[in-house]
Amino acid sequence: MYCTDIMIKEHDNILQFLKVVRSMCCTVLEGGELVSSDFRNIVDFARNYSDLHHHGKEEKFLFNEMESRLGPIGENLIRHGMLVEHEMCRAHILDLENALNLWEKKQEPIYKMDILEGAMGYATLLTRHITKENAVVYPFAERQLSSDVVETVDKKVSDFEAETEARGVQKHYLDMIASMREKYGEVEDQHDILQ
Ligand SMILES: [Fe+2]
Ligand SMILES: [Fe+2]
Repeated sequence: MYCTDIMIKEHDNILQFLKVVRSMCCTVLEGGELVSSDFRNIVDFARNYSDLHHHGKEEKFLFNEMESRLGPIGENLIRHGMLVEHEMCRAHILDLENALNLWEKKQEPIYKMDILEGAMGYATLLTRHITKENAVVYPFAERQLSSDVVETVDKKVSDFEAETEARGVQKHYLDMIASMREKYGEVEDQHDILQ
């Protein structure tokens, strides 16, 4: 299924970015400088790549079809599972942004802690969310959606990809991952999230 293939590749890109986020937080925790503009990049990446570009495709093209066509299991999995977690991701990013606004005015330890909490909460939640989509949600869609629905979803995703590619969206955020990774390195998730 073209649509899930492309979104699994995006998951890999997002997971790579989240490892960089963990490394940025470790740097600050160990007494390194908190570079506000780098933490603002997390907000930008989360809102425009992970959310608008990736969750946007899930919500508008794939999940809406699963919710309306795959009975109570589909409805439960999407509406009460995946969509709720997308909202929780947005809340973590808002917390991070608010903390950055406060930190830029006054460099209090509590604001620094809130920045780390927002960034780490986001990284942990989204890592777990992606693991569930790869293992359960996408395979369920691939097994259960009819071929004509799949064809329609694939076409919408392919048009969206072409339009965003023309605006350089994918390249911009892949370059951001590479440059942040070069600066901060990466730290694997230590949670036992695969259980
Ligand atoms: Fe999702
Ligand atoms: Fe996803």
